[in-house]
Amino acid sequence: MNVLVIGGGGREHALVWKILQSPKVKKVYCIPGNGGIAQIAECVDIDPDDTRVLVQFSKKRRIDLTVVGPERPLTQGIVDRFQANDLRIFGPNKAAAEIEGSKGYAKNLLAKYRVPTADYRLFTEADEAIRYIHKKDPPFVLKADGLAAGKGVLICTSRGEAFEGIESIMKKRVFGEAGRRLVIEEYMKGEEVSVLAITDGEDFVTLPAAQDHKAIFEGDKGPNTGGMGAYAPAPVMTEKLLKTVSEKILIPTIRGLMAEGRPYRGVLYAGLMMTAGGPKVLEFNCRFGDPETQAILPLLKTDLVDLMMASIEGQVKDVHLQIRGGTAVCVVMASGGYPGSYEKGKSIAGLEEMEKDIIVFHAGTKTKGKSLVTSGGRVLGVTAVGRTIQSAIKKVYRSVGRITFDGAYYRRDIAHRALKR
Ligand code: AMP
Ligand code: GLY
Repeated sequence: MNVLVIGGGGREHALVWKILQSPKVKKVYCIPGNGGIAQIAECVDIDPDDTRVLVQFSKKRRIDLTVVGPERPLTQGIVDRFQANDLRIFGPNKAAAEIEGSKGYAKNLLAKYRVPTADYRLFTEADEAIRYIHKKDPPFVLKADGLAAGKGVLICTSRGEAFEGIESIMKKRVFGEAGRRLVIEEYMKGEEVSVLAITDGEDFVTLPAAQDHKAIFEGDKGPNTGGMGAYAPAPVMTEKLLKTVSEKILIPTIRGLMAEGRPYRGVLYAGLMMTAGGPKVLEFNCRFGDPETQAILPLLKTDLVDLMMASIEGQVKDVHLQIRGGTAVCVVMASGGYPGSYEKGKSIAGLEEMEKDIIVFHAGTKTKGKSLVTSGGRVLGVTAVGRTIQSAIKKVYRSVGRITFDGAYYRRDIAHRALKR
């Protein structure tokens, strides 16, 4: 098979790495890819949002399977477009991807099918949202309805902050059209965990639960980032809790989407809060998580291409997932200054001599002549698999310590919650 992966971050490097392990795969292309992906696949410089050109490319190169990393092409209907051209593609169509594309749609769906989530109200008028805040007590959680590159959620600890938030999302439109509607929801307390399900619209299998670390600083302090590290399996998700997640969250959501005439095929990412009252949905994503995928795929023994084909062909009920024992820990190395402004073009060194069971996934890197330089905020996702969480942590930080670039920053406490258990 010829496979095309769309995207160019750590998640896509992990996808390409895993797809290449399938004996069915002859060649992998990546659009646009990055410096690390270029070492194992053919990177092509095409705009990943330009579906028309992507279709042309896939026909010309006889692509047998396309895998989409980021949410934007999915919510814009890349799957519908590929299918209309008889091209095989893994992921939800535009209607099903709305579960991530519109938080209002997702919340209404969850309410209709009684899936546990925070209480909420959906607003189309700023004045109404302001009146609502006057009647309620903080904290408030404000969410721009549409896609906002992971920045559209504000946790407000006072009414004043909430008024400012409504102003900037709905009136100033700092997230553009995403702020046409606003969800205000109840604040939930607990540990966060991500459960990714591969589904064909009817049946599903769950990948090992993972925990992300969104804040930039140790102890989960400071502004949110795209994710500074992840590990899997997360022990907070016991077998019993996973059963609850399946019965109360995944089954009703997948069935609900089917009943709405929007059968969901692809990977359904459930962002969950483990509250005192049980697991509740924070959000759904229509794609693989980043960096979670960098910790999950090294544990997957099953052929990922088989799994994706099962999702496309409606055969997920016949899938028996094979998961490797042990724990994977991924530590993200970022450019100094991230998630604010940072410099690019710093030479990266120390990648040559990695131990066994260490995989370095690239995110913001590119090749410049013969050397590798930084080209983004999150630069590398260094992943170790260990027999225990302790050994994986030790191993990953030993490797991180050998990798250098000017201004490199990483959190030293990835997987701290698992250690505390
Ligand atoms: P989301 O994109 O909806 O997952 O929100 C981004 C982050 O905001 C989540 O990972 C949580 O840390 C936080 N968050 C979102 N909704 C809530 C909520 N209802 N209560 C507490 N924290 C939340
Ligand atoms: N790690 C969070 C996300 O992929 O949305």
